[in-house]
Amino acid sequence: MFEHSEVKVRLLNLYIKKYLNILSRSQAFDRVQLFDLFCGEGVYANGGEGSPIIFLKAIKDVYFRNQNEGQKTIKVDCIFNDYKLEKTEKVKSIIEERKLHYSFLGDLRFKNIDYVQALPLVVRQISIVKNSKSFVFIDPYGYSEVRASQIHSILETKKAEVLLFLPTQHMFRFEKRGTPTALHSFIEDIVPREKWPNSHTGIDFIENLKTAFRDFLENEYYVDSFIITRDKNQFFCLFFFTSHIYGFEKMLDAKWEIDQEEGRGWSYKDPDLPTLFSPSASYRVNKLEVFLLSFLKEPRTNAEIYVATLHQGFRPTHAVEVLKAFATQNKIIVTSNDGKKVRKNSYYINYRDFCERSDRISIQLI
Ligand SMILES: C[S@@+](CC[C@H](N)C(=O)[O-])C[C@H]1O[C@@H](n2cnc3c(N)ncnc32)[C@H](O)[C@@H]1O
Repeated sequence: MFEHSEVKVRLLNLYIKKYLNILSRSQAFDRVQLFDLFCGEGVYANGGEGSPIIFLKAIKDVYFRNQNEGQKTIKVDCIFNDYKLEKTEKVKSIIEERKLHYSFLGDLRFKNIDYVQALPLVVRQISIVKNSKSFVFIDPYGYSEVRASQIHSILETKKAEVLLFLPTQHMFRFEKRGTPTALHSFIEDIVPREKWPNSHTGIDFIENLKTAFRDFLENEYYVDSFIITRDKNQFFCLFFFTSHIYGFEKMLDAKWEIDQEEGRGWSYKDPDLPTLFSPSASYRVNKLEVFLLSFLKEPRTNAEIYVATLHQGFRPTHAVEVLKAFATQNKIIVTSNDGKKVRKNSYYINYRDFCERSDRISIQLI
């Protein structure tokens, strides 16, 4: 198991726990379906744990914590798929040996279907189960089977989130040295070939891909990337897709939590810091500020700023930090839209205010 795989499973673990915690308390859902479509063998020679083990441990943890706290909990049906029978057999035996699953947690099924054939079945399964939400993890070795249109078909159900791991470094290398057909098909599915921009670095390639995904899926869906650095200048990437804004916010929480630990943390106050760490960080630091300086040229409500901040891949707390700095520099004016007084440094940029009082205030550059 490579180090980059380890970061991948850490993100998976953080996110799935947040996701299950929220859903298990929600009155609207009574089932989660979790599809791990390239599930692999569960445990690697060096002891590293793969996605099916991470998922089952998270499900068990969340269940027992909710039970201890007397909270409502939710059943999670897992479908672990790998086209190689020996891989799912290995996963099965590890689960039995380590007692990672009980029937009261939900159903557990193993499949050995080729991903391309499995996908329409997954979409159907997501659609037909009432009061359910689904999470689909797509973790291939390469990219030849994966298409953006498949992801679109999952998102169209409006009941699912998708996490896709792509070996972007290999894709970028190919792009430079002459594109293999599979990469053409992959890119042309999202953007006409003549419109595909040149990428100078692996990070550029990921940014171009993210922009292309965002344009392809339009504003109806949220897309973000989580860059995983293997050796110096070797970048792999997880792409996250959802139609649900709160699910997106939770994914961004998980991403920023890991980024913080990795020393790539977002720091508005100290834009010089990133040079010590990742080359991409200073880009991120300035990006939200630059974005808001343009976005706030016209008055925007707290809900509009909330949505736009997430679309940019930032957390609401990041926007608040930038707005506070703008206020200190007398760059913005905040207007109450409901006649109520607005407290200093209160910007109402969060999911609750987005739902309940979406135009509490407007903010504009002076
Ligand atoms: C990168 S590994 C998955 C790793 C796993 N998610 C983890 O975290 O440990 C990819 C797996 O997908 C399987 N696979 C490759 N092509 C496939 C396809 N077309 N359909 C289904 N499974 C496939 C391989 O056998 C391999 O086990």
